[in-house]
Amino acid sequence: MTTSRRDFVQLSVLAGSAVGLGLASRSRAAIAETEKASKPLKILVLGGTGLIGPPMVEYAIARGHEVTLFNRGKTNTHLFPNLEKLQGDRNDDLSSLEAEVGSGRLWDAVIDNTASIPRWVNESAGLLADSADFYLYTSSISAYADSATPGADETAPVGQISPEDEAKVLTTKDITGDNYGPLKARCEAEARKAFPDRFCVVRPGLIVGPGDYSDRFTYWPVRIHEGGEVMAPGNPSDPVQFVDCRDLGEWYIRLVENGTTGDFNGVGPRSPMSIAGMLYGIRATVDNEISFTWVDADFLEENEVQAWMQMTVWVPPVGEYAGFSSSNIDRALAAGLTFRPLADTASATVEYWSSLPEDRRATPKAGCPPELEAKVLEAWHAKNQAD
Ligand SMILES: NC(=O)c1ccc[n+]([C@@H]2O[C@H](COP(=O)([O-])OP(=O)(O)OC[C@H]3O[C@@H](n4cnc5c(N)ncnc54)[C@H](OP(=O)(O)O)[C@@H]3O)[C@@H](O)[C@H]2O)c1
Repeated sequence: MTTSRRDFVQLSVLAGSAVGLGLASRSRAAIAETEKASKPLKILVLGGTGLIGPPMVEYAIARGHEVTLFNRGKTNTHLFPNLEKLQGDRNDDLSSLEAEVGSGRLWDAVIDNTASIPRWVNESAGLLADSADFYLYTSSISAYADSATPGADETAPVGQISPEDEAKVLTTKDITGDNYGPLKARCEAEARKAFPDRFCVVRPGLIVGPGDYSDRFTYWPVRIHEGGEVMAPGNPSDPVQFVDCRDLGEWYIRLVENGTTGDFNGVGPRSPMSIAGMLYGIRATVDNEISFTWVDADFLEENEVQAWMQMTVWVPPVGEYAGFSSSNIDRALAAGLTFRPLADTASATVEYWSSLPEDRRATPKAGCPPELEAKVLEAWHAKNQAD
């Protein structure tokens, strides 16, 4: 495809690191219906106000847990006005955490959502090793050394980075498509070192749903809501994987409650889904004039339409990407990861998108620009008429 592996991961990293508005996603009714945990826990969330943070924090509160957040106080500052918030910067200021540890503060669990720099995990996990019973680290499916094997499970080798290259990564600006995955693998190793038998790593795939600031999955429900002729990518049977931030966040809290240790791929859906299954599933949430025109991967490439960032969620399952959208999730299922219906994710995503300011919606970070879609559809029809 036109997007090389490096560009592809780079674009994902950049899209995923942008700051968004975020959304408190659980309704009052859902919170009221949530059964309290048998034992309330003290949970420290490093982060908590981006995409997966809000639903996990809301669910933790609904379960009766006491949650403390540690972040810089920059992202979605309106969220959780009643929670204890420790302010600091993992790059160079852990003083608020150090003060709590120094005063003898104890937590049942730490959930580390923020880090992609091993030094950050080394410092935080090292500091908290005697002050917390359990550490859950948010890694990424990108931590694996390659994406070529469909059905690969958590035993697949993770990427490696040399100490020299790792030392060059001083801030998040130094994270690239080349080093993101190996850095996440190194972060995992740092957390495991500090919490050897009390450690859980979740490697999410594409995280989607309300609050998603990357606009990748969001492109499809929003585009399908607009209706008309929609350009659909590749072979309708090409696989896709993604996970709703709410499913992931709630599962994290269950992992913490159960003290579940080990490595887990955190992606869905439960059963294999094709790009056609996903697009038709989203279509079932609307009532409008709509048709899909399937344009094959080679034609998309010839016309400089990118997989993943323009034809979002989709990557042609060939070569080095043959297994990218087919990770094995047996372990996660056994450990209690559940999935809401696609229709729920699609509708909540459109609702979230509609709540964003007009200027934000005018500049989506992913998806196929309308002019490009129209141009390529016209060229595709002309080619097929000529053939
Ligand atoms: N998006 C995806 O599809 C995807 C896929 C796989 C893995 N992941 C992983 O998921 C994680 C991010 O998830 P999320 O954004 O949803 O998590 P989150 O916990 O909801 O939000 C990220 C938090 O990090 C805080 N933060 C950022 N920089 C910080 C710093 N220097 N010091 C202290 N706190 C800082 C932010 O608050 P402030 O800005 O206020 O500090 C925010 O609260 C990352 O580890 C990423 O690698 C994402």
